[in-house]
Amino acid sequence: MATTVKTPAKSAAKSATKKPVSNTGKMENSEFHEFFVDELKDIYWAEKHLVKALPKMKKAATSPELAAAFEKHTQETQTHIETLEQVFALLDEKAAAKKCDAMAGLLEEADGIISETEKGTLIRDAGLILAAQKVEHYEIATYGTLRTFAESMGHTDVADLLQQTLDNEKATDEALTGIAESFVNEQASAE
Ligand SMILES: [Fe+2]
Ligand SMILES: [Fe+2]
Repeated sequence: MATTVKTPAKSAAKSATKKPVSNTGKMENSEFHEFFVDELKDIYWAEKHLVKALPKMKKAATSPELAAAFEKHTQETQTHIETLEQVFALLDEKAAAKKCDAMAGLLEEADGIISETEKGTLIRDAGLILAAQKVEHYEIATYGTLRTFAESMGHTDVADLLQQTLDNEKATDEALTGIAESFVNEQASAE
């Protein structure tokens, strides 16, 4: 029989000192605002590079389904870039890109998969799906956190825009999972 370990009471009113932030009382000059804008520049760089990498991934894909998914997400990624530009405008900041080492690495990995797999194979597609889903998960993590930061700073308009992109990244990730699952079936029926 499992023993039930009761957690000691409630960690009660723990740091209930959180200051309410109003829409007008944005922390424009705070270090946190600067940090937030810096991270927006980072994902802006990431999206701008991804939009150039996706057509290469589309070209490398074996199945028309995967090629179509990359084509679709290229257009969506263009929208993500424009959404970030709206975010910068709302914050009265210049839209600027700052190198995102994580995305640079993920795209390098995608390139590696293309050169290490044979054209016209399902292995190539499996590798491309893996690389693309890593990218989507990176974006999901980034937009999720930035959306929460925007909310906590009272930038509701910015949070809503980031949420839109976040929803699209999640949908893309799910679509890729769907394609991966259809491969498993295809592979199975070929055996
Ligand atoms: Fe994106
Ligand atoms: Fe994406």
